[in-house]
Amino acid sequence: MKLIHDVQEMQQTVLGLKRQGKRIAFVPTMGFLHEGHASLLREGRNRGDVLVLSIFVNPTQFGINEDLASYPRNLEGDCALAESCGVDLVFAPTAAGMYPPGFQTTVALGPLTKPLCGASRPGHFDGVAVVVTKLFGIVQPDVAFFGKKDFQQLAIIRQMTTDLNLPVEIIGMPIVREPDGLAMSSRNSYLLVEQRRQALCLSKAIQKVRELFNNGETSVDRLLGEARMIITAVAGASIDYLELRNSTTLEPAETATADTLFALAVKIGSTRLIDNTVLGDNL
Ligand code: PAJ
Repeated sequence: MKLIHDVQEMQQTVLGLKRQGKRIAFVPTMGFLHEGHASLLREGRNRGDVLVLSIFVNPTQFGINEDLASYPRNLEGDCALAESCGVDLVFAPTAAGMYPPGFQTTVALGPLTKPLCGASRPGHFDGVAVVVTKLFGIVQPDVAFFGKKDFQQLAIIRQMTTDLNLPVEIIGMPIVREPDGLAMSSRNSYLLVEQRRQALCLSKAIQKVRELFNNGETSVDRLLGEARMIITAVAGASIDYLELRNSTTLEPAETATADTLFALAVKIGSTRLIDNTVLGDNL
């Protein structure tokens, strides 16, 4: 496994491999890797000749009052996990390498960015779109893997890849959870012991909504009402959003169906956690 920091070196290395006919599988991350990331890497290992992992805490996708400075980092631990997943190349650029003086280009996104996390984190998906486009240009993957944990991000990247004819196949991967149901996230490391318990309200709300839907409940108000009760019963929890939307268009659902997305963002103390489910998906 090789660790590359320099943007040009990375691009040239992959160019050489592609000239040899190698199929490049790519998993972009912000590091502090966990089993959710590992599941993407293992799938990538199966679907490419060369597996590339990027680790870059992308400053442009963080708002001014967000956790860029405190975002957890552990390059050494990440490299150990990467090696165990069969990664060939780790690309860990610097912010200066990715955004040199004079950098000015943006990607204009559409309506998929407006609701959910786009509403509470203005500019976030603009930052994601630019960095993912740049990473695709540098790594030139044939196939790239993203988690459904960030459902809206995946939808936006699929749309952007289609609209801009980027020659990359996008694969969406299931949410990996802790044994008690909490969706794995690098940000879970912020949670104190008591908050870690409180954080279970997200997956409990998901379970409840799925259960009610499976028993025939389709009223958006009733489903969201039940979910809201679970969250508001938890002292340290405050709801950012709690919504039922069409899982393709992300428009509000009038009634719940199998392709309805239930998505929520909840703050536990100052840690913002997200989770979601598509009601008809088998888990
Ligand atoms: P990061 O939060 O590090 O996540 C990297 C990838 O891992 C994303 O595609 C995310 O959806 C996936 N992932 C995270 N937790 C997961 C879980 N519990 N189960 C399955 N997949 C999970 O998302 C980003 O980084 C950044 O926005 C990035 C795309 C790298 C652009 O900067």
